[in-house]
This record gives sequence, C-alpha cells and structure tokens, in this order.
Amino acid sequence: MADNIDNLLTETRRFPPAPEFTAQAVATTELVSSAADDRLAFWAEQSRSLLTWQKPFTEVLDWSNPPFAKWFADGRLNVAYNCLDRHVEQGNGERVALHWEGEPGDTRSFTYSELTAEVKKAANVLLSLGVREGDRVVIYLPMIPEAVISMLAVARIGAVHSVVFGGFSAESLRARIDDASATLVITADGGWRKGSVSALKPAVDEALEVSEHGTTTVAKVLVVQRGHNEVEWQADRDVWWHEAMAGAAEEHVAEAFEAEHPLFILYTSGTTGKPKGILHTSGGYLTGASYSHRNVFDLHPETDVYWSTADIGWITGHTYVVYGPLANGATQVIYEGTPDSPEPGRWWDLIEKYRVTLFYAAPTAIRGFMKAGREIPNRRDLSSLRLVGSVGEPINPEAWIWYRDVIGHGDVPVVDTWWQTETGSIMISALPGLTTLKPGSAQVPLPGIAVDVVDDQGAPVGNGEGGLLVITEPWPSMLRGIWGDPDRYIETYWSKFGRTVYFAGDGARKDEDGDIWLLGRVDDVMNVSGHRLSTAEIESALVSHPIVAEAAVVGAADETTGQRVVAFVILRTSQVDTMSTEDAVAALRGHVQHEIGAIAKPHTIFLVQELPKTRSGKIMRRLLRDVAEGRDIGDTTTLADTSVMQIIHAQVG
Ligand code: PRX
Repeated sequence: MADNIDNLLTETRRFPPAPEFTAQAVATTELVSSAADDRLAFWAEQSRSLLTWQKPFTEVLDWSNPPFAKWFADGRLNVAYNCLDRHVEQGNGERVALHWEGEPGDTRSFTYSELTAEVKKAANVLLSLGVREGDRVVIYLPMIPEAVISMLAVARIGAVHSVVFGGFSAESLRARIDDASATLVITADGGWRKGSVSALKPAVDEALEVSEHGTTTVAKVLVVQRGHNEVEWQADRDVWWHEAMAGAAEEHVAEAFEAEHPLFILYTSGTTGKPKGILHTSGGYLTGASYSHRNVFDLHPETDVYWSTADIGWITGHTYVVYGPLANGATQVIYEGTPDSPEPGRWWDLIEKYRVTLFYAAPTAIRGFMKAGREIPNRRDLSSLRLVGSVGEPINPEAWIWYRDVIGHGDVPVVDTWWQTETGSIMISALPGLTTLKPGSAQVPLPGIAVDVVDDQGAPVGNGEGGLLVITEPWPSMLRGIWGDPDRYIETYWSKFGRTVYFAGDGARKDEDGDIWLLGRVDDVMNVSGHRLSTAEIESALVSHPIVAEAAVVGAADETTGQRVVAFVILRTSQVDTMSTEDAVAALRGHVQHEIGAIAKPHTIFLVQELPKTRSGKIMRRLLRDVAEGRDIGDTTTLADTSVMQIIHAQVG
C-alpha cells in the first residue's frame, strides 16, 4: 500500500470535461444543487421520476430506529414491472434490451417486449413449482439470458433471489442454500468458459446431497440446457427449464409489493469465516440503481449501447447488468465467457460488433490487457465508445491513463466508481461532463450521498489527510441487514462510530480539493481481481484439511490482480516427513478450491514451523505481508517471540 500511496500523492494530471460532452450530459449542476438543498426531497423526486410506483409513497425515510432504515415505506411497486412492462407500455417494446453473446460465438437478442414475455412465462413456471412471495430462490447460472430472466421472474412474484457465482464450489453453494433456506435452485447443465463446457449441475447435486442436517430445504431444481453436457437427473426433483417454459402460461400480471419487500440476498466475504448474506429491498434499491446508472454512465437510452462485463454473481452484475440498465430502458450487451477466449481481443471485438458506447470493467482486466499490449485493441474499431468506467478495486493512475488512451481513444471520460455489495449502488464517482477527472481518484460522492473520511475517533480529517471512509447519512440503496443476523449487521457496520455512521472498511484520503482517493481495505478482507475474499474464510478452509495444524492468510500486492492470496501453513507434526512439500501444497490448493472455489485458491503457500503472534495470541498478518511482498520486516516488538520472523524468513527465503 505504501508504494500505492506515494504514487497517488504525486499524481497531478487533470482532465477537464469536454464542452461537447457537458452540453449533452445527463448529470447537471442543478442535480448537484438540488441534492445539496434538501437531500430527502431530492431522493423523493428521483424515485418518483425514475420509477413507476403502483401506490405512490408519502414517507421518504424512516430513520427512527437506526441502523434499520425504511425508505419510501408506504409506497408499493413491482421491480420487474419497472424493468420490463412499463417500457413496452411506453412504446419502447421494440428496443433491444439484451444483445447476448455466448463464448462459442452463438448469439441471442431480446427486445423489451420479448424479455417481458420470457419473464412472465418464467414467473408462471416458478409459481407452478411452488415458489411463493418471500421464498428464497438460489440462482447458480452462467452469464446467459436465463440468468437475467430468472432474477426478474423471482422479483416479479415477490420471491427473493440469492445469486451464487458459478465459480463457487459445491461447499460454498451448500452453505448459501442452507443459510437462506432456499426452496428452489435454478442452474444449468454447464456453461462455456475458456473454450470448453464447464459443468455446473454436479455442484448443485453435491450441495443438496451433503446438506448440514442431512436434509435440504430445496424441493426443486430448475435446469437450463446450455452446455449439453451429460448430467445426472433426479426425476422427482429436477425440471428442465425449456420444458417448463414450453408449457407455461403467457400472461402474468405483476403485483405491487411494499417498498421494503426483500428483493435479494447476496453473500459476500467479511472478516470472519462465514460469508454474510447482504439483504437489499425493493423501492430504495431500485431508486439507487436507476439514478446512479443514468447519471454516472450518462445514459441516453434511445441511442446508447451499454456493456458491463460483470458476472451476475457479483453486486455489479445485479445493479449494473440487471436492475439499473433495465429500469432505465437501456440496450446492453452481455457476454458469457472470459475476456481472452477464443483469443485475446474478444472484448474489443464485441465493442466493435455491437457499437458499444458505454463500457464498465474492472482494473484487473485493464491491467491484464495493458500487459498484453495495445496492438490488440488497436486492431479494432473502438470509436463508438464515449465513456468507460472502472469498479471493484483501486485503479492505479497508469492503468487509468491506458484505459482512457488506448480503449477510450484519449478523449472519453473515465469514471472510477467506488461502492460495495452493501451500498447497493455507486457512492463515489466523477460525474461525466461535470467533474474534472483525476486519474486514480474515485473523487466525489454522488449528489444525495454523504461520505466522509474520519480518524479513529470518528472526527473528520482535513484536506490532505487520510483516515477511514464512512457514509454519514442513510441512502436509498443501503443494505437493510445481514440475513438472519441483525447483531452482526450492527456490529460490522454501525458500531465503530455509533448507530448512524456507516463504516465501510476502506481506508481513504482527501486531497487538497477534498476529493477522495481510496487506499484499500483496512480489515482482513482481500481484493483479488476485484473479488472480495476473506482471510479468515480461507484460513478456516485450510485448517479443515487433516494435514494442517495452523494457517494464516494474507493478501500480497500483485501488479495485475491487485492482491494475491498467500498462505503460511504449519503442518501437523505427524505429516511433516510423510509428504513432499509439492504434494502438500498441491493438496492444500485443491482443498481450498473444493471448499470455496477456484478464485480463493492461494497463489503461494509457504510451509512454516511458526507463525508470528502477539502475546495475546493474535496472528500479526502485517509481518507476514512484509514477507509475502519481499519487504524488510516491520516492527516486531509486540511479538510474543521476536525470533519467529527470522525463522520464517529463513524458511520461505
Ligand atoms: O475495498 C473496496 C473495493 O471493493 C470493496 C467492495 O467489494 P464488493 O462488495 O465485492 O463490491 C465490488 C463492486 C462494487 C470495497 O470495500 N472497491 C470497490 N470499488 C472500488 C474499490 N476500491 C477502490 N476503488 C474503487 N473504485
């Protein structure tokens, strides 16, 4: 982090908005000033103008019992209706909603009329399978149109989806199904990844078999045929999507639900071993999604073609693939596969093919492309692009400049957007057309969002100083809780500085202008390729292997992926001589993949005999990070045994 800060402190390049862009920009100075004048009136106005409420709300915010917020509580709406039917009713049914591209090159497009028709049928399928309002449905799918259709169908009937990223293992899937007590799982036989079909259904079969209490709450599994790979079939439980859809009734009238009706649960890693089920509700979430998508991406729905490369398994896929763009009636591209399959220019081919105008991706991918060289994008026509965005981790100034120069032909605004699963929508970003851009800084809170940087006591730091990032006023798309665990909700986010200040877990700095520069997590959460991973979760996966006595995991800086997972493991004495180092390391990497998923697999595992601990027994990860990053070891005076670090150094050296 130290190098990173030095870089940021010396970054002085500035890019004022182009007057032509400003002239047509969605975000205006009036927007900014109206939010500053009266925040709640501003949000009420945004919600009324962006969404269609079946029963208009009269209350804006109920914050009488912080941190449990209610937004627009006496209003009623249907989220799927807002993303679909109303666009058709308003005469935009023939506009393309989705241009989908499969990895092997097969394509499907859906207009808003067609997507609405599919979602209505899927809603009827869910009802026929016994899903009712409030029930939880786990979605474990590749990036295929059925992923979007499933989410909207679940929302349409007032059920609650919990999407699990297809890269998570059967074990992770099981834990999420159990925690949410889901009654239905929607999956596929398989999906395309890196040139071949990767099976998904076996993980569902395994997850349901080994449920914690020997039983499972899941009654039915709905299976989309995508990979055409062989799958096992349980006739009383498994249902083919295409067969169910073929027999489904076509009409479905969307019922209105309360604004605070739960919309989805999305599990994310925290500082403990157990992922947290972040709960989002309907009216406030959709307001935040629609508002931020329109203003940050400067969306002109009649003419723009938008593409976010995020998977629906992450919050970006929820807010900026499904809910924000569709609520706004946008035309978008979705792509099933990996960026470099079948060859390294695939993303740029898609931009050229669909004439993408607004593009949203993660810094890791950008840095990966930087490494591969500008010749690859230079061979494509990227002239359609008029804005590019970044999300998921800090974007270093060099990657920012490359993104603007090579992808954005040197003249598009780059929006670096800071937010989290918990915040539901973008909190900090430049406003295109208004903000003078600074490479490496997320810059300013969106109008209506109150962000600050504070010291350990909660006092705001001055300009030019660093501290902890907080959000000081509730916002419509804020999380409403952690599924089944209100105490953990309070404890994690609302106890460090009192019940009304949201603690984000990120370090940040205000520059001379008061703009915000994100500096990475201040807790034991890692960010690997923009994916959030918990050190504790990987440690507990490691120690669940019989050869392991103790384990400590750290995130070490990595040029491309931001951080990488490095583990320090003490083997049980009985194992030390029976297994070669290579075999032990391979077994442990495989074990983490089995327990959590490939994304959590340690990049490096060091077998050691000791771990650095304080006198109270806490592992000093800071010192291990020094080792993992090849730095001189910092202050060891609080260690119980100060010689430990020399021993570790000698062992990993
Ligand atoms: O550390 C911040 C980092 O990602 C964390 C949130 O992760 P997740 O809930 O998975 O959501 C990722 C997509 C919104 C944050 O606590 N992060 C996200 N965006 C940025 C970022 N760090 C720096 N700059 C960003 N633009």
